[in-house]
Amino acid sequence: MSHSTTLIRPSERDGTGAAIAVHVLRPDAVQGALQSLSDLQSGYAEARGFAGEAGQTVVLPGEDGAVAAVLLGAGAKDSDLEREMRVGQLPGGLPAGEYTLASLPDDFSARLATIAWGMGSYRFTRYLKDAREPALLVVGEEVDVVGARAAVAATALGRDLINTPAGDMGPVALAKAARDLAQEHGAEYSAVVGEELLEQNYPMIHAVGRAAHEAPRLVELEWGDPDHPRLAVIGKGITFDTGGVNMKGASGARLMKKDMGGAAHALALSHMIMAAKLPIRLHCLLAIAENAVSANAYRPGDILDSRTGLTVEIDNTDAEGRLVLGDALCKASESKPALMIDFATLTGAARVALGPQLPPFFTNRDALHEPVSEHCMKELDPVWPMPLWQPYHAMLRSPIADMKNAGGRFAGAVTAALFLERFVADTPWMHFDVYGWNPSARAGHPKGADVYAVRGLFSWLAAGGLNTRLER
Ligand code: BES
Ligand code: MN
Ligand code: ZN
Repeated sequence: MSHSTTLIRPSERDGTGAAIAVHVLRPDAVQGALQSLSDLQSGYAEARGFAGEAGQTVVLPGEDGAVAAVLLGAGAKDSDLEREMRVGQLPGGLPAGEYTLASLPDDFSARLATIAWGMGSYRFTRYLKDAREPALLVVGEEVDVVGARAAVAATALGRDLINTPAGDMGPVALAKAARDLAQEHGAEYSAVVGEELLEQNYPMIHAVGRAAHEAPRLVELEWGDPDHPRLAVIGKGITFDTGGVNMKGASGARLMKKDMGGAAHALALSHMIMAAKLPIRLHCLLAIAENAVSANAYRPGDILDSRTGLTVEIDNTDAEGRLVLGDALCKASESKPALMIDFATLTGAARVALGPQLPPFFTNRDALHEPVSEHCMKELDPVWPMPLWQPYHAMLRSPIADMKNAGGRFAGAVTAALFLERFVADTPWMHFDVYGWNPSARAGHPKGADVYAVRGLFSWLAAGGLNTRLER
């Protein structure tokens, strides 16, 4: 699996020379831009009604009929949330060749437009015979090519892992992906597998994964200078979620290969941090299991022990993600990190609340709401804060255990987050309930697996986010 990218390359000393010019235009810039084209080309654009409307694309022919230039409308500035990401709609539709962003609206960043190009170029080709040549973007010195490539590569890594079907992305394969990443960056890799989970006190990861043909495991990566502030990044790695004994129906199960999406997000963020060599001591933890059904599966009504010592009555075996994460969060908190960030495809309720493009996030430090939301918005990677509404703890009450693993029909994303909060031991913590999937394509976001919040969080971390005052 390759997450390296040759979709973007720096220009050589002859500048962006022979590359095909792409002009991204807002409506008020169209007139001026057309005047600078040949009569043939401006006539061609006018005949097609090119007015710079959002998403409008015209491929201009040269005298020989080959592609000579490309026009892309960006729409009016005041109504534009898509911004640079709009550029991501181009590469999938253009013939192979070398392109360059010759003009951009004044308010666009060339860096984000470059990242959008790379994100829009993504295709999951592992099972395809015809891997067609992608359109290549040549960028000048004004763009940090290394940084842009890392963002694109991290996104592609996450997408590849999520898109890979469960038959080829079980617990063993997911752990191997983590190990490969560790090797690439010189991180330390370790794993606690199968029965060892019981010996080393991860009872909930074991219970969820014990019925599967590949053993559950807790995978850990450690990287960086121990003197730097410590960050834990944790991911839900359910390689397939059948729902367990409370089994999902056909439509509910159809996409559940993506239930390791949290682990994919955790690896994507880790990749960016390590590639940029941020001054952070990174601890990445993946709680990996397949939620399968077999004679030894855990059952509704069972009471599980947990790493913190809290007992959990199983109300529903389909609320498995919070169980595996509970043990992993507890383990992460034991090293007293400055911050823990977890990603999980945790609830259908998050998707009902905010849809697939806008992950809700929860934190036990309100000071994080604003800076994190702002960085994510700026990176065109938006997230939305949601409350850890304490009174809803009551929904997780069990008469015979410390709590149960599922609330009722209300506030499903909130009660799931409140469940997790019990395992973080007051460590500063953020939880992202990601969907990990685009039901349909939009600019920069091809249909299928996707990674959210990672570029935004990286931006916040690179700007020194771990120095935020987080004591209460
Ligand atoms: N992996 C699912 C959540 C999910 C479902 C995410 C669909 C995205 C799309 C999770 O394990 C789950 O099944 N959650 C249940 C919890 C319920 C039983 C309390 C849910 O959300 O229905
Ligand atoms: Mn489930
Ligand atoms: Zn799940």
